[in-house]
Amino acid sequence: MGENPRASAVRDLIVDACDSANTPIGNPVVNGFLVEFGLVPRWSGRWSWRTKGRRKSAGRQWRGFTCLAYIDHFFESKGMRVKQEVQELFPTPLWIVDLAAADAASFNAKLKAEIENIISPRPKVPSGSNWQTPQDLHTRPAFADFTKLVEITARSVAQYLEVERFPMMITGCWANINSPGAYHPTHNHPNNYLSGVYYVAVPEGGPALVFQDPRPALMMPWTGKLSRVTANAAVAQPQPGRMVLFPSWLRHHVPSNQGTTERISISFNLMFTNFAETLAAPRWKPTAGTG
Ligand SMILES: [Fe+2]
Repeated sequence: MGENPRASAVRDLIVDACDSANTPIGNPVVNGFLVEFGLVPRWSGRWSWRTKGRRKSAGRQWRGFTCLAYIDHFFESKGMRVKQEVQELFPTPLWIVDLAAADAASFNAKLKAEIENIISPRPKVPSGSNWQTPQDLHTRPAFADFTKLVEITARSVAQYLEVERFPMMITGCWANINSPGAYHPTHNHPNNYLSGVYYVAVPEGGPALVFQDPRPALMMPWTGKLSRVTANAAVAQPQPGRMVLFPSWLRHHVPSNQGTTERISISFNLMFTNFAETLAAPRWKPTAGTG
């Protein structure tokens, strides 16, 4: 039977990708997708030769995917089976910790009172402006419980990222008071590893925290439907008692407060305590001069 030229081209593309990447035939990288192929009896000799004996069992179970339907349908029409997998590379983590509502209410009442102490008497700021306290709240006894919460949350995040053996410290902690109409323009938190925000008071209609896609916007065809794959921004909804941690390099902004009361949050940064001593040295081994 003559081979369909399209099937031949697709097969060669896959085989070439495997060969050039020195990748086992089970996980060829084709156009950014990892596609795992099963054996097709009439091709088995070729696959076997190409993969230097790495043959997969023809009897394995397959799971259907609809994400790459054209591939599925194409191979199905040739009597072949295909297994697809889409992986998300380089995900940007966001950690969200919510205090129970009842606990948050009393905790936030105390925090709000302490913030009021700091900002009293209130300065005159233009309507729609936001303003901030000094960045030393983590050093003040009145915020000791809050500081502990930040430190413990950050330690959990460090454990998740497998960097817990490198101590981190809070390098800044301040309260933000967003009056109605106030907003925070786009920014990131340079020279830190982790940043976060905790919500003390969120009015009805209070704005979300909007994170921007860190990838270069080279091609952004409008799909008509936003998803976590196609969107170029993502929001973290605020609520009293919620803490959100994120990588400090991730750019974000807060749209204007459309509520009728103040939106109060506490922001903070963390950095490795001994970054230069413990983390900045080269991680590669020298190839000469060590004898
Ligand atoms: Fe920020």
